[in-house]
Amino acid sequence: MKSHPMKDHVIIVTGAGKGIGRAFVEALLAHPATAGKKMGLCLVSRTRPDLEELATLATKAGVETEIVDVDLSEHPIAPVQRALARFGKLDALIHCAGVGRFGNFLELSAKDLDDTMNTNVRATFLLLQETYRAMKAAPPSRGMRGQIQVVTSVAAERPFPHSSIYCMSKYAQRGLLEVMRGYGYQDGIRILDVRAGAALTPMWGEVTPEQESRMMKARDVANPMVNALFADERSTIEILTIRPLQGDI
Ligand SMILES: NC(=O)c1ccc[n+]([C@@H]2O[C@H](COP(=O)([O-])OP(=O)(O)OC[C@H]3O[C@@H](n4cnc5c(N)ncnc54)[C@H](OP(=O)(O)O)[C@@H]3O)[C@@H](O)[C@H]2O)c1
Repeated sequence: MKSHPMKDHVIIVTGAGKGIGRAFVEALLAHPATAGKKMGLCLVSRTRPDLEELATLATKAGVETEIVDVDLSEHPIAPVQRALARFGKLDALIHCAGVGRFGNFLELSAKDLDDTMNTNVRATFLLLQETYRAMKAAPPSRGMRGQIQVVTSVAAERPFPHSSIYCMSKYAQRGLLEVMRGYGYQDGIRILDVRAGAALTPMWGEVTPEQESRMMKARDVANPMVNALFADERSTIEILTIRPLQGDI
C-alpha cells in the first residue's frame, strides 16, 4: 500500500488560477491558522501557468501543491482522484470554478446554455458527489469529516437582467447544496454556500469606472471563506452572503 506524507489539511481549490479562487489561496497562505501546519493544496483550473505561479507562492510558504490543469466540464472528478493519490486524504473542497454567459434572454444560444450548465451544474454535481464520497469514507475527527464550500452567487437568490442562464445555473447549485446539507448533518460534513455579490475579477471583462468604484475585490469574498474554513467544529456556517456596501450592481 502506498504511504503518504502526513498532512494536517488537504484542500482542493478549483478556479484557483484567477479571481476569487486565487484570492482564496493567497488568503489561506497568509492566515494565522495555517502557521506551522502541514498543508497539501490541489490547485485546479484549465490554465497551467496560472497554477504554476500560485504553486511557487505556496511552496515558499512551505505548502505542498498538486497542479490539476483540467477542464472540469470534461474531467469533473479528477481533482478528488489526484488529491487522494498525492496526499491520501481530503479535508476541504473550495469550489470557485465557474463561468458566466450574459446577454438578452432572446439572444443567448444553446452553446451558451451547454457551456454554462456543463461547468456550473454538471461538473459541480459530479465533483461534489465524489468529494462527499471521499470524505464520508474517512474516519471523523472530533465529529467532523470535512467541509465543502461553493461560490454560488447572489444570483442564486434573486434575478438579474441579462442573467437568465447564469441565474438558472446558480439556483441549481444552491438547490444541490441545500439537499446535501441534510446528508452533511449526519456525516459531519459542513456545506457552505457562498453567495457572492459583484467582485472585480476577470469574469466581468470590461467594466465601467462607475461599476468598478462600487465593486468588491476578490479578497473581500475570499477572506470570510478562509475564516469559515477554520471555524470551530461545533458549528457549521451554512450561507455566507457578501455584497458590495452599496448593494448589488
Ligand atoms: N466575480 C463576481 O462578481 C462573482 C459574483 C458572484 C459569484 N461569482 C462566482 O464565483 C466563482 C468564481 O468567479 P470569479 O469571478 O473568480 O471568475 P474568474 O475570475 O473568471 O475565475 C474563474 C476560475 O475558474 C476557472 N474555470 C472556469 N471554468 C473552468 C472549467 N471548466 N474547468 C476548470 N476551471 C475552470 C478559471 O480558469 P481557466 O479559465 O484557466 O480554466 C478561473 O481560474 C464563479 O462560480 C462565479 O460564478 C463571481
